[in-house]
Amino acid sequence: MKQLVLSEWLLTQLSQGSFPRRMPTHRRIYEAIRQAITDRILISGTRLPSTRNLSQDLSVSRNTILAAFEQLLDEGYVAAQTGSGTYVAYNQPDGFAKKPVSLGATEPLKLQDDIGLSRRGMAAAGSLNRQSHEVQPFTPGEDDYSQFPTMLWRRLLNRQWRAPDPSLLDYGHSGGYLPLRLAIADYLRVSRAVNLTVDQVLITAGTQQSIDLCARLLTDHGDRAWIENPCYWAARRVLEVNGLQLHPVSVDKEGLAPTTEDFRATPKLIYTTPSHQYPKGMVMSYGRRRLLLDYAESRKAWIIEDDYDSEFRFEGRPISSLQGMDQNDRVLYMGTFSKVMYPGIRLGYLVVPPNLVASFKSGLYELQRPGQVVIQAALADFIEEGHFASHIRRLRQTYAERRKLLQKSLASVAEVGARLSPVDSGLHLVVEFDEEVDDVRVAALAAEHRLRVSPLSYYGIGEKREKGLIIGYAYAATESISKYGLVLADVIRAALKK
Ligand SMILES: Cc1ncc(COP(=O)(O)O)c(C=O)c1O
Repeated sequence: MKQLVLSEWLLTQLSQGSFPRRMPTHRRIYEAIRQAITDRILISGTRLPSTRNLSQDLSVSRNTILAAFEQLLDEGYVAAQTGSGTYVAYNQPDGFAKKPVSLGATEPLKLQDDIGLSRRGMAAAGSLNRQSHEVQPFTPGEDDYSQFPTMLWRRLLNRQWRAPDPSLLDYGHSGGYLPLRLAIADYLRVSRAVNLTVDQVLITAGTQQSIDLCARLLTDHGDRAWIENPCYWAARRVLEVNGLQLHPVSVDKEGLAPTTEDFRATPKLIYTTPSHQYPKGMVMSYGRRRLLLDYAESRKAWIIEDDYDSEFRFEGRPISSLQGMDQNDRVLYMGTFSKVMYPGIRLGYLVVPPNLVASFKSGLYELQRPGQVVIQAALADFIEEGHFASHIRRLRQTYAERRKLLQKSLASVAEVGARLSPVDSGLHLVVEFDEEVDDVRVAALAAEHRLRVSPLSYYGIGEKREKGLIIGYAYAATESISKYGLVLADVIRAALKK
């Protein structure tokens, strides 16, 4: 389709009222282009008109077009190439959804019963995976894989493969490879003050699977679950797919902050990130921890403690786990090897209260048929021989330096009223905006400079969402952080200037 023709086609779509008028204009433009791609009106490799031309042709502001393009970029429908424009990157395969399935990570789902998906299926497929996964300097959730000791890892794997014990090639029985569970138990006892015996540790395929197992074994369809607002999107998705009624609870500087009204909405499950709230970064205070534990005990609710990045605490004393304070066996504690090793390793751990051990081991085996025991054995060696600790030390140093450089280069955003979160741990920081700022637009502007950051509002739930940007600093090379940080600061300042 020629560029002018695309503008005309879009104009027709918009004027025909193919999309509800109350839908924001950027949203309607996004939907129209997305539909043209999924219907193969626009094919792979087609160059889209420039945002400037499109804004003139459609008589809308350039920012409106930018916001639509950003969402298409985010969802992998188009790809941007520096200096040469934006191209259609992806066509949905035949037979796949022809109508929108997703309204973004945290938007309500549209029903899609015409292709036969179940409600659960619709919730699960609700967010289109990014088809083009281009990592950019500040992409949140990306680690610095270049630091991973691949030679050493290969040696440890080879050692296991040289003469593998047949049991290593079988499914993972009894909660996983015992030496790995022992190593994890020792690590958690010492560094996270988790109160446990090795029997309580189960090896899972990461946090998402751990949460899924908890939801399946501890809740029934329709039960209520508290989640943090804003919340880790993957936790939300898993709980939603399990048919739980989600009840968002706000967070403040002391972490999860339930109101009297929230307390009345008794949950079966509470998902929380007490050591480092995701995505905002605060640590849950002692008072709130006590309150939450007492409340969970009084209502016989389960608490899921997602301790996803405590290895990367740069200042102050390590924060103890919530599980370590629990005297009533209400907390299920989980961690992941995605951050310290690499996400594709798909290994994590779940620590369950003693009375749940047998059921969880059997549930894990029946529902997931776990495996990768050879990798579990290599990982056990990696931890026992001290490589895990030294790798964390190295990463911590690198990330602390990057965080400092990024904070410094972003300091000028205070001039336009943006606030830099005081992070002392983790792999990302948050720049907070006032409520009226359109953070999706600011993220779209940053994307124009090939700096992918996430709008904070994507993680929010409901009408009133906090605004800001989530900026990952683990991936960018230390030498280039300041350069990119200054570009991002300029983008934010220009966008927020009154
Ligand atoms: C809050 C939170 N929990 C857990 C994880 C890791 O999940 P997984 O172990 O499934 O890779 C992440 C990854 O970014 C996260 O942000």
